[in-house]
Amino acid sequence: MSAIVVEGGSRLAGTVGVLGAKNAVLKEMVASLLAPGRHHITNVPAILDVELMCRVLEHTGAKVTLENHELWVVVPDEPEPVAPIELVRQMRASIVVLGPLLARCGVARVALPGGDDLGARPIEWHLGGLEQMGAEFELVHGELVGRVHGRLKGAEVELPFPSVGATENLLLAAVLAEGETRIVNAAREPEIEDLVSHLGEMGAEISGGGTSLVTVRGVESLSPADHRVIPDRLEAGTYAVAGAITGGDVTVTGCRPEHLRMELRKLEEAGCEVGRGDGWLRLAGPERPRAVDFATLPFPGFHTDMHPQLVALLAVASGTSVITENLYDARFRYVGELARMGADITVEAQHAVIRGVETLSGCPVLAPDIRAGAALVLAGLRAEGVTEVGDAAHIDRGYEDFTGRLASLGARVEHVEDAS
Ligand code: EPU
Repeated sequence: MSAIVVEGGSRLAGTVGVLGAKNAVLKEMVASLLAPGRHHITNVPAILDVELMCRVLEHTGAKVTLENHELWVVVPDEPEPVAPIELVRQMRASIVVLGPLLARCGVARVALPGGDDLGARPIEWHLGGLEQMGAEFELVHGELVGRVHGRLKGAEVELPFPSVGATENLLLAAVLAEGETRIVNAAREPEIEDLVSHLGEMGAEISGGGTSLVTVRGVESLSPADHRVIPDRLEAGTYAVAGAITGGDVTVTGCRPEHLRMELRKLEEAGCEVGRGDGWLRLAGPERPRAVDFATLPFPGFHTDMHPQLVALLAVASGTSVITENLYDARFRYVGELARMGADITVEAQHAVIRGVETLSGCPVLAPDIRAGAALVLAGLRAEGVTEVGDAAHIDRGYEDFTGRLASLGARVEHVEDAS
């Protein structure tokens, strides 16, 4: 098992750059399946999830090369429309191949993703929308087999909740469908807006990307494009909080502060000094943060994937914070680990009450998922002594060279393989 070992007590200062957004690039890689030929994507982070998505694409017969944050995907004329369980199990986001494979090949065999670190995570809205467009599904030995007779047909699909994955799956299917598709109550995340731009560069006709109503006029075919991925707002937010939790002063470059509006507002309420400009943001942390309350919501609300990092900060705040998690059943699994470090947090259903303590003390903890893992490292930066965050592979899924970047800001931190 790999671990990240942190020695607390350093004040972080300096400048750190971020790369392209994990949750945009993964879907943009899948978008390449919509057109044969050579696709080029830049600003691609070298993270575990991107590597896994390369395997998913290779399984369909694509040739993939990733070098210096540039990715080339060469898609064959007739992709193999299959995503096997060993890949889907490792990365649930693989399910977004369903829509494009159905649109392109008329058939798709994709392993049904089970739940994961964050809870049950069903996909009935993805399937319901694709069924409205004419797809039929059956579950055969754990594999979803989808078929379309002829071409997918445009439809009006109203999502019960603005699901990111369902919006993306439907978009990726609708671009090659016959006629017009309207996705009502679509997710408005910046990563979806970026996917819409990328699809537009490939020749798709889409309006309303980044709003609650996305309209797609299906076209006969698409062509490969050259696309630069938007910056990762979660990576940027994580480094900003890393500085703040140590009372430090960190500038993040290559990012878009307008994608972190709600999160920065809460950090300001917590006593951080926030500066922002075109492509950068700066966060200076107070000696001790103040308690704040927040609730996670789809964009433009407070992002669930910034929740654990903020809780790490509030664990050492003066006063009591109350937070509500509205996206995931199992997001609070890391709270027990923070409690081992001395945090005083009570969880009741989707609410947590955080009574700020003066100090945390380092100890061995386990990362239950990407963001909680990052948050435990941040807590370790503030804690007295040494914190060893085990199961660090979770963190590697979403952050390129997390320890190197933190060390460049003055953290005493290292990534160890074969930890106990
Ligand atoms: N949901 C259903 N049925 C569905 C689809 C979703 O009940 O058919 C529920 C989910 O179980 C969840 C909620 O709706 O409770 C929201 O899920 P959504 O579909 O919006 O999330 P996702 O597409 O599965 C993406 C990101 C997550 C991020 C969420 C929310 C990727 C690869 N993943 O997941 O990112 O938390 O949107 O913004 O884009 C991460 O990066 O650490 C991460 C977990």
